[in-house]
Amino acid sequence: MIEIRNVSQRFAGPTGWVEALHNVNLTVPPGEVFGIIGRSGAGKSTLVRTINLLTRPTEGDIVVNGRTLTSLAPAALREARREIGMIFQHFNLLSSRTVFDNVALPLELAGMKHAQIEEAVLPLLELVGLAAQKDRYPSQISGGQKQRVGIARALASKPKVLLSDEATSALDPETTRSILDLLRKINRELNLTIVMITHQMEVIKQVCDRVAVLEAGRVVETGPVIDVFLQPRHEVTRALLGDVIAQELPPALKARVAERLTKGRGHLLRLAFTDTGVDQPVLSETIRRFELDFTILHGQIDEIQGRPFGSLAVLAGGDPVKVAQAMNWLREQGVVVEELSHVE
Ligand SMILES: Nc1ncnc2c1ncn2[C@@H]1O[C@H](COP(=O)(O)OP(=O)(O)OP(=O)(O)O)[C@@H](O)[C@H]1O
Ligand SMILES: [Mg+2]
Repeated sequence: MIEIRNVSQRFAGPTGWVEALHNVNLTVPPGEVFGIIGRSGAGKSTLVRTINLLTRPTEGDIVVNGRTLTSLAPAALREARREIGMIFQHFNLLSSRTVFDNVALPLELAGMKHAQIEEAVLPLLELVGLAAQKDRYPSQISGGQKQRVGIARALASKPKVLLSDEATSALDPETTRSILDLLRKINRELNLTIVMITHQMEVIKQVCDRVAVLEAGRVVETGPVIDVFLQPRHEVTRALLGDVIAQELPPALKARVAERLTKGRGHLLRLAFTDTGVDQPVLSETIRRFELDFTILHGQIDEIQGRPFGSLAVLAGGDPVKVAQAMNWLREQGVVVEELSHVE
C-alpha cells in the first residue's frame, strides 16, 4: 500500500516558484496496478519520484507499506528504498555490461556473493523471457528486450512496489502490449503493487485497475478505470480519452447531423455501458418501449480488463418527452447517458 498524503512540491524557477504538485492525496491499494495519467508538464514524473524520495516533497508524507518514508533516517530510508523498484522510459542500462550483468548490478552493490547472484538472476531472466540473451550487450538487443532487462533489474532486490515512468513510451504498439502483458503477469505472480506513469490512455486501458488524472500538479479525477471510462468527469480526462473512445462525433459527421437536426427534432446521445448493455438487448428494448428511432452514428465495443465496454453516439428521434423517459430508463439499466448536443 502506498499513501501519498498532502504532498506539495515547489521548485525554484527562473521567474519564481514552480508548484509542480499541489496537495496531492492518493492511496494505492496493495497488489493493484495504479495508473497516473496527465499531459506533459502535469507533474507525473515529479510525483513518481517523490514516492521513493528521489525528490523529497516540500510538504506532505509518503507512506509505503506502513512506513513513513519522509520521516526515516538516511540508513533506514536506503533500506526501505530496496522495496521499491523503478523502470524508465529510456531503460537506463549500462552499455558496457551484458544483460546478465545489468540485472546483477543491484545485487553486486548490495554485496551478494557470485553464486547467489547467479541463483537470483537466472530465474529473473527466465521470467522476462531473456534467458537466451543473457550474454548480449544492450546494443545487441531490441528496445522491448532492453525494457525487459530493466524490469528484471528492478525485480532483483525483490521489491514490493514497482514504479514505472513512461516505460513503454519509446516502444511501438505491439512491443508496448507485450511489455504491459509482462507487467501484468509480474503484478499477479509476485503480487507486486505497480504505479504506472503514462500520457497514453491506451496503457491505462490495457493494464491498470485504477487511475488518477493529474493536471497542473493536482489530482482532478480518480477511480476504477472502468468507471472513469464510462463517465469521465473532468475535461482533461475527456481529452485524454479522446484517443481511445469516441467522445464526440468526428467534425464532418457532426456538421451533417446538425444540418439534419435543424430540419427536424432529435437528440444526439452518447451511451456508455458495460456488462448490461453488452449482454442484454437494452437498445432494442428502449426503441420498442418508447417508440423511438435510433440511428447509430459512431461507436465501439471494446474490453477493459476483461470486462466488455461500449460507447455509442446515437441520434434519437421521436417525441421529446419519450426521449427524456428513455434516457431515464436507460440510466436505470446502468447505461451512462449523456446529451452531446440537442436541436429542437
Ligand atoms: N528539478 C526541477 N526544477 C524546476 N522545475 C521542475 C523540476 N522538475 C520538474 N519541474 C517542473 O515541474 C513541472 C512538472 O514536471 P514533470 O516532469 O513532473 O511533468 P510530467 O508530467 O512528467 O511531464 P512529461 O509528460 O513531459 O514527462 C514542470 O513545469 C516542470 O518544468
Ligand atoms: Mg515525465
